[in-house]
Amino acid sequence: MNDSELYQVQQAFLRYHVLVFREQELGPADLKRFASNFGPLEIHPYIKGLADHPEVVAIIKEPDEKVNFGGGWHSDMSFLQEPPLGSVLYALEVPEVGGDTLFSNQHAAYAALSPKMQSILDGLSGLHSAASQYGRGGDSDKRKGARQSMELHVAEQAHELVQHPLVRTHPESGLKALYANRPFTERIKGLQQAESDALLKFLFKHSVREQFSCRVRWESGTVTMWDNRVVQHYALNDYHGYRRHMHRLTIAGDKPK
Ligand code: SIN
Repeated sequence: MNDSELYQVQQAFLRYHVLVFREQELGPADLKRFASNFGPLEIHPYIKGLADHPEVVAIIKEPDEKVNFGGGWHSDMSFLQEPPLGSVLYALEVPEVGGDTLFSNQHAAYAALSPKMQSILDGLSGLHSAASQYGRGGDSDKRKGARQSMELHVAEQAHELVQHPLVRTHPESGLKALYANRPFTERIKGLQQAESDALLKFLFKHSVREQFSCRVRWESGTVTMWDNRVVQHYALNDYHGYRRHMHRLTIAGDKPK
């Protein structure tokens, strides 16, 4: 990619938040080179990457496995102090049918709220952790045997709480986006438990309404990159009996503001 192509991709990324490139043939080193154009790459704290390329995680579901990875609406690693700016996913092998990824635009979700609700949320913070996925008794712990093709770790540090605004402002566009997701946002700071539960329940439902979302249909060789500061995503698990094999990279981001 030359400088002018890179500029066009960066502008499109800022405008559309989810970009899809078809018919690519990329090894892990090529993917790293591409993703590094947008920032330094991260190593996932709880998932083992490829031996020679620890920044690249193989997301695999075998035909006889029932559980997939990323099978619920979420924003990648919002449990980090500095969650990833974006993610890049490359399809090596895809099912004949199904296995799409859904994306939901959190600028649109915020904009659709009443001004009153916006001003309530503007002053609130969410407490995030990785506990439900990578903590003791969390998803990876409970489903150890069910997801054998990926190495997910369970760790004490997954229980640490990290505070982020419930509404974040995109550092480049200045637009506001909702920032709460079901697996990682545990509660809202300063509210009673019942108040927090009720508001989060509303936000989890509202933020992924159909009118904010789009769907990527994968072909082998498709690369999709998305802006974690704007979108949540959901890997559909509707392809039992087929193999799906992807490579994922995450690009380091800054502290949400
Ligand atoms: C993920 O949550 O990053 C996985 C998305 C997918 O496999 O479609």
